[in-house]
Amino acid sequence: MPLITTRHKTFELQEGETLLEGLERTGHEVEYQCRSGYCGSCRVKLLSGKVSYQEFPLAFIGPNEILPCCCTVIEPIEIDSAMRMTEPDLFDVDLFDEPIENG
Ligand code: FES
Repeated sequence: MPLITTRHKTFELQEGETLLEGLERTGHEVEYQCRSGYCGSCRVKLLSGKVSYQEFPLAFIGPNEILPCCCTVIEPIEIDSAMRMTEPDLFDVDLFDEPIENG
């Protein structure tokens, strides 16, 4: 399966997996709505390599942009996609971790 290189990671797509699913599985920040080429929410910049489409998507895509939900990766590609940022969970922080001093 073709290698996908993003800003932070290189990974291989699994059998039957879309690029969008691969990006989600590997912890990338991805947006989506329709997951079928209509809305354009998932578009990312293609930095190198090629993809194809079984049916040309209805969503607008600019030059060098691809739709990970419906493209077929046909060779190793590099895309401008970053890892999902995780906010620190305030409920996990122990606010009362400081030792209590008596006196
Ligand atoms: S999620 Fe709508 S075009 Fe990809």
